[in-house]
Amino acid sequence: MTVLTQPTQQPTTTYLKDYQVPDYLIKTTDLRFEITDGETLVSSMLHLYRNPAASSPATQLTLQGADLELVSIAIDGRLLETTDYAFGEESLTVFNTPEEFSLITITRIKPETNTSLEGLYKSRTMYCTQCEAEGFRKITYYLDRPDVMSEFTTTVVADKKYPVLLSNGNLIAQGDVGENRHYATWHDPFKKPAYLFALVAGDLAHIEDSFITCSGRKVALKIFVEPKDLDKCDHAMTSLKHSMRWDEEVYGREYDLDIFMIVAVDDFNMGAMENKGLNIFNTSCVLAKPETTTDAGFQRVEGVVAHEYFHNWSGNRVTCRDWFQLSLKEGFTVYRDSEFSADMGSRTVKRVEDVSLLRTLQFAEDAGPMAHPIRPESYIEISNFYTMTIYEKGAEVIRMLANLLGKENFRKGTDLYFDRHDGQAVTTEDFVAALADASGRDLTQFKRWYSQAGTPRLHITDSYDESTQEYSLTIKQTCPPTPECQHKLPFHIPIAMGLLGSAGDLPLVLKGAEPDFETSDNTHRVLELTQAEQTFVFEHVQEKPVPSLLRGFSAPVKSTFDYSRADLAILMSRDSDGFNRWEASQQLGLHIINDVIAQFQVDQHLTSVSIDPSLVNAYRQVLRDESLDKAMVAYMLTLPTEAYMTELADVVDVEAIHYSRAAVRSHIAHELRAEFLAIYHDYDHQQAYAATADAIAARSLKNVALGYLMLLNDDAVIRSCEQQYRTANNMTDVIAALTQLVNAQAPLAQTLAVTALADFYEHWQHESLVVNQWLSVQATCVLPHTLQKVQALQQHPAYDGKNPNKIRALISSFCNGNAINFHANAGEGYRFLADQIIVLNAQNPQIASRLLTPLTKWKKYPPARQVLMKGELQRIMAEPKLSKDVFEVVSKSLV
Ligand code: BES
Ligand code: ZN
Repeated sequence: MTVLTQPTQQPTTTYLKDYQVPDYLIKTTDLRFEITDGETLVSSMLHLYRNPAASSPATQLTLQGADLELVSIAIDGRLLETTDYAFGEESLTVFNTPEEFSLITITRIKPETNTSLEGLYKSRTMYCTQCEAEGFRKITYYLDRPDVMSEFTTTVVADKKYPVLLSNGNLIAQGDVGENRHYATWHDPFKKPAYLFALVAGDLAHIEDSFITCSGRKVALKIFVEPKDLDKCDHAMTSLKHSMRWDEEVYGREYDLDIFMIVAVDDFNMGAMENKGLNIFNTSCVLAKPETTTDAGFQRVEGVVAHEYFHNWSGNRVTCRDWFQLSLKEGFTVYRDSEFSADMGSRTVKRVEDVSLLRTLQFAEDAGPMAHPIRPESYIEISNFYTMTIYEKGAEVIRMLANLLGKENFRKGTDLYFDRHDGQAVTTEDFVAALADASGRDLTQFKRWYSQAGTPRLHITDSYDESTQEYSLTIKQTCPPTPECQHKLPFHIPIAMGLLGSAGDLPLVLKGAEPDFETSDNTHRVLELTQAEQTFVFEHVQEKPVPSLLRGFSAPVKSTFDYSRADLAILMSRDSDGFNRWEASQQLGLHIINDVIAQFQVDQHLTSVSIDPSLVNAYRQVLRDESLDKAMVAYMLTLPTEAYMTELADVVDVEAIHYSRAAVRSHIAHELRAEFLAIYHDYDHQQAYAATADAIAARSLKNVALGYLMLLNDDAVIRSCEQQYRTANNMTDVIAALTQLVNAQAPLAQTLAVTALADFYEHWQHESLVVNQWLSVQATCVLPHTLQKVQALQQHPAYDGKNPNKIRALISSFCNGNAINFHANAGEGYRFLADQIIVLNAQNPQIASRLLTPLTKWKKYPPARQVLMKGELQRIMAEPKLSKDVFEVVSKSLV
């Protein structure tokens, strides 16, 4: 036996430009899992044949494999000698392979000690798998790449203490094996890449329903959970049925198998996974009931169920050629699930939520050391590229395409894409080509969105000539350099817009263009910016308008236009675009907070600040506006978040942002006290819980009011808040009240908070997902000494340092959702985080790597903090045995 050793210790980089088709393909894959306590034997029989598309006929076969013990290997029934094959770092090469042959391998794996939660592992009482992106190689030797698609048959053999044995596709056989053991055999008729493989063995309960597809086929729907969670499955089932109907109606996509299963597991690195016919979900993304789950939790379940279901077409039937194409399935599927959620609830609210996420987290990523295009050029560890850019910016790019093509042509395009590529592994180029072919549009320039990273900046100016009644908008685009590219070519940017006059939207007569017939009254249109600078001239404009730009956030860009505060108030109160009404509220809020920041910068010990009344006046109008959705009122009355302000800043002043925003909030609370009291007291606190859009909206507005009222230091309010905590019939209101008590400075609130926190744990200690919310509330407390409390909570019996949900609830909440404490001056927050990452690096590299994000942003902070943050990154870098995951992020951050 030969050992092929790597010449260097440095992890290798994989490049898109090096892509080559596989030498061999796998017609069928037959797997047998013998699960016993402590180890599992995996027998694999692969029917391999030379790929006719390969450039030269291969005479050897290299399979991927990691952490496997090879027991035996045979070709066409002949056991191989050790000279017939060689091991590489994470591979096995078999020499002298024929044109077509069967390969049988037997490998031994240890799911019980697999803490990476990739491959086959044990979560509490059940065995389960996670194979995307490259986890299948931890199960058996295989061509673990998405362009190798095979027909799978899987037999699972286990002790009867695991009564439920599942895999992809249809159950074709089951029975006993001796007295205590049993087996089940599943066959998936659809060819799939290994990353979509799944297996589950456990003592699970399930709920069952069915769905009749548009062609009249009956599909069995099952959700499997630990028996204690059986009462929390209904919402996911309803969401699943809504998703199935929606995909038929909106995309003409029918489900293909006769069975669709979801399994909930408690230890899961991600939210959920779209394995063919057998989705595996993090419990946090499937379980929901009013007593334990917040409104946000309900909406998350609906969105994730839809997302994973939609992958059946955008991902599974048509999959990715290689992992550089990840956004092909993820960006498109996020766009699909986002439109689904918009249709299920409020479209504008969903848009505000998506844009907020994009503008804080994705824009920050695009401005940092890990910036990459939505189709990256290279990676060290692909797990690091399941990013906000691939997902959220990827979805925005699809949204722009949908808007540029219009509803009908976009649907023609997606129909063509699914038809043309069904059963294939394709590229983002193939996707865009299908849209271009179906619509007749030239998308050549548009494709730069796939290859250039960075957030484009628009600098917009206007001018109005009263004598000619011409109004012109001049738009300049630039894009800052990112690691992969210094000089960007202009993007093709759709800019949806309108012009506001004193009596509402003005008709748009764009010089040199046809009227836009997609809108009935011709007051809205999409300008297509393709040059570095362009001027658009509108004729017959009878008064100087206020432009409403980038309506619905029509492109993922940062734009500046010099609005006066009065302009912003006008947009807030009467733009016909709901998104831009909210956007104006954010811009006005920024003006006001920045005023205060400026005052603090002159005098650090300022005791009273002066605050421009325009914001409160505008808020008052919003509160009086009966036409607004309550959820929109709630969002419009919420100041720009610290995270958004951090992203906007060139140099982040953590204290200035935190205390100035707090000062403005407190000012608003005093000025609008009567209005907020009215909202709070008019709310019917006794009403039965419903997770409908209207009920969610009313609750969020009421809780925003409570948030302001709690800034008044008023004992009566504090007691109302505590009463809400004690008597609410749903988790949204309980958590909202608890959060307010925990963050309030008044001694009465602090006393009540201590009691409430103890009471909460006492009551909910047996509900793991509820305990996670309890951890998060404490980790995000803005008062001093939170880090010590977080550290104490790590020792609490409720905490489990191996469970990703617990890590996210405590560690990640503190480091990402508590800037004022995480960035404490002596650097103790940074040191704490680095310590966690060093432990997790060995245990669960994916989670370790994700936790690094806040430290990677060090260049945005003032010098003293830079030194501390960078020092922690260097300390991590010096660790022996860094995982590829952590190595990639740390090394790129230190450049
Ligand atoms: N395919 C992913 C899950 C995944 C990601 C597996 C990375 C392995 C590595 C799945 O479809 C997904 O995108 N899930 C999201 C939730 C979704 C609603 C955006 C997740 O897990 O966060
Ligand atoms: Zn996905």
